[in-house]
Amino acid sequence: MILTVTLNAALDITHHLDRLRPHGSNRVRAVAERAGGKGVNVARILHALGHPAVVTGLAGGLTGRAIRAELASAGLADRMLSIAGESRRTVAVVEESAGDTTILLEPGPVVGAEEWARFLDHLDALLADATAVVLAGSLPRGVPEDAYARLLGLAHTRGVPAVLDADGAALSTALSAGPALVKPNADELAAATGLSDPVAAARALHAAGAGAVVASLGPDGLIAVTSQGSWRARPPARLAGNPTGAGDAAVAALTLGLATGAPWPGRLAEAVALSAAAVAAPLAGDFDPDVHRALRSRVAVRPFAPFAAEEPHPCP
Ligand SMILES: Nc1ncnc2c1ncn2[C@@H]1O[C@H](COP(=O)(O)OP(=O)(O)OP(=O)(O)O)[C@@H](O)[C@H]1O
Ligand SMILES: [Mg+2]
Repeated sequence: MILTVTLNAALDITHHLDRLRPHGSNRVRAVAERAGGKGVNVARILHALGHPAVVTGLAGGLTGRAIRAELASAGLADRMLSIAGESRRTVAVVEESAGDTTILLEPGPVVGAEEWARFLDHLDALLADATAVVLAGSLPRGVPEDAYARLLGLAHTRGVPAVLDADGAALSTALSAGPALVKPNADELAAATGLSDPVAAARALHAAGAGAVVASLGPDGLIAVTSQGSWRARPPARLAGNPTGAGDAAVAALTLGLATGAPWPGRLAEAVALSAAAVAAPLAGDFDPDVHRALRSRVAVRPFAPFAAEEPHPCP
């Protein structure tokens, strides 16, 4: 099974209304709630593809209970560790007439030192049955800045390949712990390296310790810098829709590729098709299966010279 870790799990609440009027009362037409956070989204996608996934992380309080109830009703295996603090909620207000969305993000709980120590033991036990592990999303307050480096150390000892989707210090402090793959987006890549050229930046993260760097560039697709070669993969067209969670779909496909050892070009084509299919679905953690099927064989994957100074050859 593939294990996904969401340390700052959330209850994602979506309010639908016609138009948001600031400074006044607003009547909401419909409300939807579901468990969120990047690792949860990745597990949801793996589950929909028919691959067993187990969700772990930290959840607490009434919101934590709501998160876990929703995981159960979605059929996702829940091995969250309970903590004392209240899990966070995210609130998205969707204005249907304006086609606009306003998002409020709560900070989430403060995790105690003893809770963090318990989580390390908890994860170590779960890793015994894992074929790959995904570490994804922001760190809650109270856990150490190098939290992902610690978790990568546990995975390494157990021989479980790890995929990391993080940014800022959570990413930079984890590279030397040797994640099998990191999946920054364009902004995260530039922030982590100070380099505006994504190829140069991906090479820098690879040199800093990531086994493979797959950088997602929105509608331009992915570039991969690995020890086996470097590739660029592009979707056949830019899709309209909701790009939030497209990166999580790419992570799900890349993790499956890692677990099965599929050749890189096929892994990248699958990641581009699945993430485009996620853009075509309204909610993060979902994808449109028809778009996924239709795009799989239409993704252009081209190698480029791994250590050349210039840009990769543009795809036609
Ligand atoms: N408009 C689009 N049309 C087609 N494919 C897209 C589009 N936007 C994104 N993608 C696909 O989704 C992948 C991930 O997108 P992006 O780089 O925006 O990820 P992200 O910022 O990490 O997303 P998130 O963190 O919200 O999940 C891209 O590499 C690309 O293959
Ligand atoms: Mg992302």
